[in-house]
Amino acid sequence: MKGIILAGGYGSRLHPITLAVSKQLLPVNDKPLIYYPLSALMLADVRDILIIAMPDDIPQLSRLLGDGSQLGISLSYAAQPVPQGLAEAFLIGADHIGDDEVALVLGDNIFHGNGFYDLLAEHRRNIDGCVLFGYPVTDPERYGVGEVDETGRLLSLEEKPEKPRSNLAVTGLYFYDRDVVEIARQVRPSARGELEITDVNRYYLEAGRARLVTFGRGFAWLDAGTPQSLLHASQYVHTLEDRQGVRIACLEEVALRMGFIDADACHRLGAKLSRSGYGEYVMAVASELAG
Ligand code: DAU
Repeated sequence: MKGIILAGGYGSRLHPITLAVSKQLLPVNDKPLIYYPLSALMLADVRDILIIAMPDDIPQLSRLLGDGSQLGISLSYAAQPVPQGLAEAFLIGADHIGDDEVALVLGDNIFHGNGFYDLLAEHRRNIDGCVLFGYPVTDPERYGVGEVDETGRLLSLEEKPEKPRSNLAVTGLYFYDRDVVEIARQVRPSARGELEITDVNRYYLEAGRARLVTFGRGFAWLDAGTPQSLLHASQYVHTLEDRQGVRIACLEEVALRMGFIDADACHRLGAKLSRSGYGEYVMAVASELAG
């Protein structure tokens, strides 16, 4: 399965912060925002990942993450000069996807909770159509909204409906089978001029090939698109990290635990950052898991 992180957009709800720097490079507590969606793909065992971003932001993103080989993964970059909708990711990423399945994650989405790894492992197997992940929210009208029946079968999908049929937001993590590029090619721009991912998902739904998996209570899904949500995300991560002494979305730790790198390599990555608490943590994890 291939991966795509869609890390473009103007970040206009964060202006002036994002006038000179990409939203996905802003800090969420102790690490850049993009670490969180990247760690989600790595936890799904996705190792060949395309990062799509505004052309000006690609040099900084690649300065931060490189070609991924230090983490035992492969990262490549592609430009989206104008944000024309989430579904454009499949057109820009068509060659990268090839004839494979693909996991798409939005660059400002944060997922955290017990059982996330198991859930990803379960649902990335035998994908027939698409797998969406739902999360109950108090303000569904701000999101794509999924309606399910009592057996969990998906009945409808709507993008930012005025009158939502449920409180289940469709989060920014999606698994697709190999048909997605062809389907995205058939999608026409919406009233707001964008290639909507909800239209791609609805296509699958109408073919009876869309599933919505709901994250349970105790799971956290956050996006970081506004000053307030960015602050809330930092506070959430800080609270957990400070209380438990573990770090969320520590890429080096995820790479080690997933078996992408060994403990020596992990320790060397930590040593490069040893003046920060993050670097100390990476070294400590490497030493602990080295036995
Ligand atoms: O966060 C989940 C929601 O994401 C879903 O519930 C919605 O169905 C989906 O449409 C999307 O809604 P948003 O209103 O959050 O989309 P937004 O336009 O803010 O874009 C989400 C991220 O993707 C944002 O960080 C910017 C980036 N982006 C967006 C567009 C339209 C791109 O990189 N390229 C684009 O063309």
